[in-house]
Amino acid sequence: MQVSAVAHPNVALIKYWGKRKAAGNLPAAGSLSLTLGHLSTRTEVRIDGGLEQDTLSLNGSASERDLPRLRDCLAPLRERAGNASPVAVESANDFPTGAGLASSASGMAALALAAANALGVAEDGELVGRAAMAGSGSAPRSLFGGIVLLSIDESGEWRCGSLLAPDEWPLKVAVAVTETAAKAVDSRAAMELTRRTSPFYSAWLEGQDADLEEARRAVEQRDFDRLAELSEHNCLKMHATVLGARPAVVYFNSATVECIHRVRGMARAGVPVFFTMDAGPQVKAVCLPDALDEVAEALRSAPGVRQVLTGGLGAGARIT
Ligand code: PMV
Repeated sequence: MQVSAVAHPNVALIKYWGKRKAAGNLPAAGSLSLTLGHLSTRTEVRIDGGLEQDTLSLNGSASERDLPRLRDCLAPLRERAGNASPVAVESANDFPTGAGLASSASGMAALALAAANALGVAEDGELVGRAAMAGSGSAPRSLFGGIVLLSIDESGEWRCGSLLAPDEWPLKVAVAVTETAAKAVDSRAAMELTRRTSPFYSAWLEGQDADLEEARRAVEQRDFDRLAELSEHNCLKMHATVLGARPAVVYFNSATVECIHRVRGMARAGVPVFFTMDAGPQVKAVCLPDALDEVAEALRSAPGVRQVLTGGLGAGARIT
């Protein structure tokens, strides 16, 4: 049985940073993201009882390192299907992998969807979400298109879905790629270090529900200025919390900082744009459609920027 799926990475405006439970990989708080239609992961899953063990090829090379995460994702699906046969997985990204462009989110969403279909358990959407989350806490968001909310209640019950479809508020995103090598500290390890050692971690968590609720309202009202202010605040607060870890994790490089200043300069001059960064040095500038060319040009000419990838919001993960 062989199934392929495509998923897009997503960029969080209200971030997930820190887990509630290591088991099941449950985030400590909810998050809100944009699904990026111009970047894609394609993953093929083949169930093969003849294999001795699971295999993973990532961008054409065998990857041992990501096998544990792959198995975490497959575990709930295998259990439901009552089928533990080994799988051969081939996954490829059309953008830099492991460099803070959320390749784990699109990778795990595509894997969960393809494997659920190959194992015949895809009709249970909640199960597919749980499998994606077991692989990466941001991956359930890539199962959905447009602007996506992942909410978690006190008891740890969570749900994920689109707040707006891509055409209901056609925001644009320019991704300034400032580094193409994989990051030095992966987000799972950095989150755990932050939780254990950053004096700012509890304050970070305390603010999350309020930021999320305000962002949800800004999205519903299509209030760009409010979403812009809140997203930059949430992003810088996350990075401040990570900078407070011991040893500190510094994801920014000099081009990251230059891009932040350029985006702030444009916003001060009245251009509808704001920035956000995840666990890596890339800067994602979110803007209204008419501003995209100007924003992309300003980032492209910043020293240290290697390329600028522009596009709009995309659809959720799907079988191809
Ligand atoms: O899902 P992970 O383990 O790749 O962590 C994602 C962390 C951030 O990208 C920094 C924030 C987020 O909500 O996507």
